[in-house]
Amino acid sequence: MGFCPTWQRPYLWKKGFEMNKTVTLQEFIMDGQAAFPFVSGQLTRLLTDLAIGAKIVNHQVNRAGLAGILGSTDQVNVQDEQQQKLDVFADRTFLRILSAGKSVAGIGSEEREDFVLCGDEGKNGKYVVLIDPLDGSSNIDVNVSIGTIFSIHKRTTPLGEALTDEDFLQPGSHQVAAGYILYGSSTMLVYTTGTGVNGFTLDPAVGEFFLSHPGMSFPDHGFTYSINDALLARATPAVRSFIEGCREATEPAFRARYIGSLVSDFHRNLIHGGIYLYPSLINKPEGKLRLQYECAPLAFIAEQAGGQAEDDSGRILDRKPEQLHERVPFYVGSRHLLHALKACRQAGS
Ligand code: AHG
Ligand code: MN
Ligand code: MN
Repeated sequence: MGFCPTWQRPYLWKKGFEMNKTVTLQEFIMDGQAAFPFVSGQLTRLLTDLAIGAKIVNHQVNRAGLAGILGSTDQVNVQDEQQQKLDVFADRTFLRILSAGKSVAGIGSEEREDFVLCGDEGKNGKYVVLIDPLDGSSNIDVNVSIGTIFSIHKRTTPLGEALTDEDFLQPGSHQVAAGYILYGSSTMLVYTTGTGVNGFTLDPAVGEFFLSHPGMSFPDHGFTYSINDALLARATPAVRSFIEGCREATEPAFRARYIGSLVSDFHRNLIHGGIYLYPSLINKPEGKLRLQYECAPLAFIAEQAGGQAEDDSGRILDRKPEQLHERVPFYVGSRHLLHALKACRQAGS
């Protein structure tokens, strides 16, 4: 993918770079740190480590058909889902890199029952990471885009003490950073530290992420809805009525798009406008998606990009997790679509 100069221009003007200067992820992160002279640099290190993990996983994703890494293992994870070989590879890669980096005290992974303590029993690093190492596992074997989602919190227990469950059970509103990596037609890393959302595209020839999408924002008026249609009969009346409304709209008409990889569906809607829904179901009121590894980080990004993210009762970021692997219904996207969904809820339909 080429880098669009009109995307780069506002950022470059602001920072006073020469117009033809490309900005690497590393430069961008360091720049962010320089704005806060008294910070320790641990978050910078952590984000850099995530980018390294992304490049390693990306390499493996790109050659999956050759590397004997397609297909499933004979294991199921704590979610009772069949683990794919790439799920395991991505999980091990990110855990290895993050644990070695000294800024992370503990990691909760979708693929592991319990959190993992880093270094000296998690007494030293400043941050706690929650990660969905490989999102969209069912798409691995068919060469469809997949992703990684991460969420970063500051530890709540004092440095020097062992971490507790509470460090891992903080509401999404406490996140200091969140992001995703999309292994798609090009590989992108998109993240926020609470001051807007920026996207970086990997140039595979030089192995570097470059700023390609500064200041990403959800268009207020999207016309794409993304839901697994096969679930609709078991969804809430409000969700069914909302989807009916989308189907009936003509000026303009809606498009239905569902890849089945949350990262990819979210990314497309972030760029073009739209809504993603994984609803509460009659036989599964909590839906499918995991609050800590999927919904809270994408909710943080969505809000930073001017969008919204809710469950059936309110803002995802206000929800305090009770368990590490908690599931939650998830509706995320452009503001006016979230308002329309809420109106369906309030109408009691
Ligand atoms: P994961 O691969 O991390 O388990 O996540 C899969 C998720 C998400 O990526 C996707 O949007 C959703 O599951 C698809 O679920 P359905 O097949 O039920 O539609
Ligand atoms: Mn996932
Ligand atoms: Mn996953």
